[in-house]
Amino acid sequence: MSAYLILKHLHVTTAFITVILFAVRLLMDLVGRPGWRETPLRWIPHANDTLLLAAAIGLVVVTPWMPFVHGWLTAKIILLIGYIFAGVFALKATLSARARVAAAILALVQVAAIFHLALTKPVLG
Ligand code: HEM
Repeated sequence: MSAYLILKHLHVTTAFITVILFAVRLLMDLVGRPGWRETPLRWIPHANDTLLLAAAIGLVVVTPWMPFVHGWLTAKIILLIGYIFAGVFALKATLSARARVAAAILALVQVAAIFHLALTKPVLG
C-alpha cells in the first residue's frame, strides 16, 4: 500500500474515533459516570488525536493539498482549533451543565463542518 493510502486510512479512521471517543466521554458524564477520568479513557483520546494530526501532516506532505493555499484546508485547521477548545470546555466537570451543553453542541457542529469540508473540498475564497 502506498504511503498516501496508509496515511489516508489512518487519518479517516482516527477522525471517526475522535468523534466517537468525544461522544462516549460526554455520555458517561451525562449518565453520572465521571469516573472515566480515572480509566484509560483519560489518555486514549489524546493518543488517537496525536495520530490523527500526524497523519494530517503526512497527508499535507504527500499530497498537493496545502494549508493557506487551499481554503478548505485552512478552514479545517481553524475549525480544528475551535473543536479542541469547545471540546475541552464541554468535558470540564467544574463548569455548569448549561455551559457544557453549549460547548458540546459547538464542538459537534465544528467537527461536522470539518468532515463536510474534508469530503467536499470546496474552492473557498
Ligand atoms: C478533527 C480533525 C480532522 C478531521 C475529522 C478530518 C477528517 C478528514 C476526512 C474524513 C478526510 C477524508 C476525505 C475524503 O475521503 O476525501 C480528510 C482528508 C484530508 N485531511 Fe483531514 N481531518 C482533520 C484534520 C486535518 C488537519 C488538521 C489537516 C491538515 C493540517 C488535514 C488534512 C487533510 C488532507 C490534506 C486531506 C485530503 C487527503 C486526500 O483526499 O487526498 N486534516 N480529513
